Amino acid sequence: MNEKIRLIIDTDPGQDDAAAILMAHGLAKRGLIDFMALTVVAGNVSLHHTATNARIICDWAGETGFPVYAGAGKPLLRPLVTAEEVHGKTGLDGAELHDPQCPLQPVHAVPYLIDTLRKAEEASITLCPIGPLTNIAQAISLAPDIVRGIKNIVLMGGNYFEAGNVTPAAEFNFYVDPHAAQIVLQSGAPITVLPLDVTHKACITTPRMDVLRKQNNTNGKRLANILQSYERFDTQKFGLEGGPLHDPCAIACAVFPELFSGKSCRVDVETQSELTMGACVVDWWGSTGKPANAYWVTDVDADAMFRELADSIRELP
Ligand code: RIB
Ligand code: CA
Repeated sequence: MNEKIRLIIDTDPGQDDAAAILMAHGLAKRGLIDFMALTVVAGNVSLHHTATNARIICDWAGETGFPVYAGAGKPLLRPLVTAEEVHGKTGLDGAELHDPQCPLQPVHAVPYLIDTLRKAEEASITLCPIGPLTNIAQAISLAPDIVRGIKNIVLMGGNYFEAGNVTPAAEFNFYVDPHAAQIVLQSGAPITVLPLDVTHKACITTPRMDVLRKQNNTNGKRLANILQSYERFDTQKFGLEGGPLHDPCAIACAVFPELFSGKSCRVDVETQSELTMGACVVDWWGSTGKPANAYWVTDVDADAMFRELADSIRELP
C-alpha cells in the first residue's frame, strides 16, 4: 500500500469546490489520503462567503471539527473579481445552507501554511489549490524555504488549448490573481496544472448526476442538486455536455495520477497586458529552451475519474 498522500486544499467554494472538498473527505474515509486542512481564499465569492461555505461543506461531510483557515480576501495586486453569475450570491447555489458548526481556526491561512510546511518532512505535503493562488503565493514569497516541504502542487487553473472562461484569453483562477499564479509557477516547487484543456473533458452529465442521486445518502443527492444548478452556465456558454468538474480534477489527479496525461513544459502567465491578463503561455514544443516548470495536463479518463468521485461521495453521510 503506497503511503497516504498528505493533502491540504486551498479553495474558494464555489460549487465545483464543494464537489472537490466532499470528494477529499470521502477519499480520507477510504483511507487513501491524510486530509489535513482547508485554507480559504476569495475568488468565486467574497472571503466571508468562501470561508463560511468551507465550514458548511465540512459539516455536510460530518467533519464538524475539521481545520479551516481563512486567508486572503483579495488578490496580491488586482481588485477582486468574483463569479456570482456562476455559483450564485452565496457561492453554493443549489443547496440549503445553515449556520456552520465547524469553527474557523484563529490563525490566518498563510502563517498556517508556512508553519506547517516548515515543520514537514522534505517533499511530504501535497497542496491542491483550486481557487486563485493568492494564499500560496503569499506563503512562498514570505518563506521561500517552504518549497522544501512540498511534494507537489496539484492546481486547477489556466488554459492554453482551450479558450478562456472569464475572458477570451484567461481562465478564472489565473485571471483573478495572475501575479500569484506567476509567482507559484516560478517558485521551483513541483507543479501539476489541471487547466481548462483537461477539465472541459470531465463534465457532470445527466447520467453521472443520476449516479449521485441514486446513492442512498444525503450528500449524493445534495451534490447532484448543486452540480445541476452549476451546469447551466457552462453548457450555455461553451456548449459542453455538462458542467465541467474543474476542481475535482485536481483532487483526482493528486490521488490517481494514472488517470491523467500531459507534458512537462515551461509555463508563464501574462501579468502586463489587460487584453491577455492571466493568459498562459505554454512552451509545448520547447521553443524557448527554458526548463520546464510544470506538468501541463491535457487528457483524462473521465469515466474512471467520475467513478472515483462517486465512490468517495458514497462514503459520506
Ligand atoms: O475556472 C474554473 C475555476 O474557477 C474553478 O476553480 C472554479 O471553482 C473557479 O474557482
Ligand atoms: Ca474553485
